[in-house]
Amino acid sequence: MNSYLRTITKEEPFKLCFVCLGNICRSPTAEGLFIHKVKEAGLENFFYIDSAGTAAYHVGEPANSKSQTTANKHGIYLPSKARRFEYVDLEEFDLVLAMDSENFLNLRHLDTSGRFTDKIKMMRDFDPKPEDGSVPDPYYGGQEGFENVFQILNRSCETLLNELKEHIVE
Ligand code: 4NP
Repeated sequence: MNSYLRTITKEEPFKLCFVCLGNICRSPTAEGLFIHKVKEAGLENFFYIDSAGTAAYHVGEPANSKSQTTANKHGIYLPSKARRFEYVDLEEFDLVLAMDSENFLNLRHLDTSGRFTDKIKMMRDFDPKPEDGSVPDPYYGGQEGFENVFQILNRSCETLLNELKEHIVE
């Protein structure tokens, strides 16, 4: 069993943080999707959901307008306000999900003691079609790249929630 897994109760909600570079495209989309799926399943009291970036370029900004347009088209709202991922987040969260291998390595470097290795995972570990294992950065591309990111994250969030649901004790 993966060691980040534990019994999830209302008293001790499972804390997830989705992480990309800027915290304006990929991780806010993952956050919005996961919040939506959790609400749809009536499980909002069992999860604490957040997102952050490994870089600080966009701190304080809402999700990118193309990310918002794409998500809204699918009925998903993106509530994020960009922030930088900090060391304390490694202590705080149960599972930290990196969007690509660069974000993953940045998170592993932040974990200088190696205490948190087991809770830092790649988002596409949960994608039934993981391809090269990274969620591609859509920032410099067109709308179709944002739709591709949305579809990847929709599949990955679905699988992730199904895995975590098994550990909920009502
Ligand atoms: P994100 O996308 O990491 O998915 O939020 C990016 C956002 C901004 C930049 C790069 C990627 N940037 O270089 O400013």
